[in-house]
Amino acid sequence: MSSYNIALNFEDGVTRFVECNAGEKVLDAAFRARINLPMDCSDGVCGTCKCRAESGQYDLGDDYIEDALSDDEKNSGLVLTCQMVPQGDCVIAVPASSHACKTGQSRFAATVSKVEQHNDAAVVLELEVEATAPAFLPGQYVNIDVPGSGLHRSYSFSSAPGESRISFLIKKIPNGVMSTWLESAQPGNKVELTGPLGSFYLRAVQRPLLFLAGGTGLAPFLSMLEVLARADTQQKVHLIYGATRDLDLVQVDAIESYLEKLPNFTYSTVVASTDSAHPRKGWVTQHIPAEALNDGDVDVYLCGPPPMVDAVRKYFDDNGLKPNSFHYEKFTPNAAPGTP
Ligand code: FES
Repeated sequence: MSSYNIALNFEDGVTRFVECNAGEKVLDAAFRARINLPMDCSDGVCGTCKCRAESGQYDLGDDYIEDALSDDEKNSGLVLTCQMVPQGDCVIAVPASSHACKTGQSRFAATVSKVEQHNDAAVVLELEVEATAPAFLPGQYVNIDVPGSGLHRSYSFSSAPGESRISFLIKKIPNGVMSTWLESAQPGNKVELTGPLGSFYLRAVQRPLLFLAGGTGLAPFLSMLEVLARADTQQKVHLIYGATRDLDLVQVDAIESYLEKLPNFTYSTVVASTDSAHPRKGWVTQHIPAEALNDGDVDVYLCGPPPMVDAVRKYFDDNGLKPNSFHYEKFTPNAAPGTP
């Protein structure tokens, strides 16, 4: 019997994946996995189980009443999980915390398989997960415990879901706890991770995509590009990758490889420093081609340090640019204020 993977993204950012058998309702599949989604009647009458389907094919049947879910709500992507029968993998945003649904973050162990230093800019960290490959949505992050510190730091996956070898692109911070540990980390070292987390993830692709990355904010886009390539996505995808200095542009070869793997993929790199010898200088917003905005019929994803994210959002507002959707994530080097 076939089954589908259903991602439940709770409002606190925690994501849990449940397996839903063909013909099974999401509410029942979640219950089997000991996740108590909001519900009351379980009969399509009360509307308590209303959630938003972010992507995927499903059937709602016609056994529910209009008071529980109106046609307008249905057409806008709202669903009743007590009626929803998936017909493929789905992502569902649940308007309740994971705690309220009696679930929480998953924890898993991994072993360091590679530590690749990129001068003083960044580190590529590869880990081999000991149990099954962790499920996550491309764009999401995990908390990695920094061995011996009692602290954790949050990093977006730069690898695609479904692999036991996972990777991260980590910004080097002078005296930062993770950066310091990475200076001596060796293949074979053990780490513990918690997640996946986050609401910054690739939604169903229905129009051209514009990706704007700042520094190591490139990581989630590498994960998304791999997923798009595997799905043989035909939509246009344009990535602009900005960095402060020339040597902060890392993993450009990984981006370059998608020119072959994704039929309508284009990208450019930009460097902000006035000392740069790079052919394109300035900010990512100065290098957005008009065609990449597609007259607003575009989904924009933005990830970078807070000042960059704020500047790009302001640029869109100031210039009256209203894309179909705008998703962003600010990455901050420290998980807890006041700690290095
Ligand atoms: Fe009442 Fe789904 S639980 S409509």
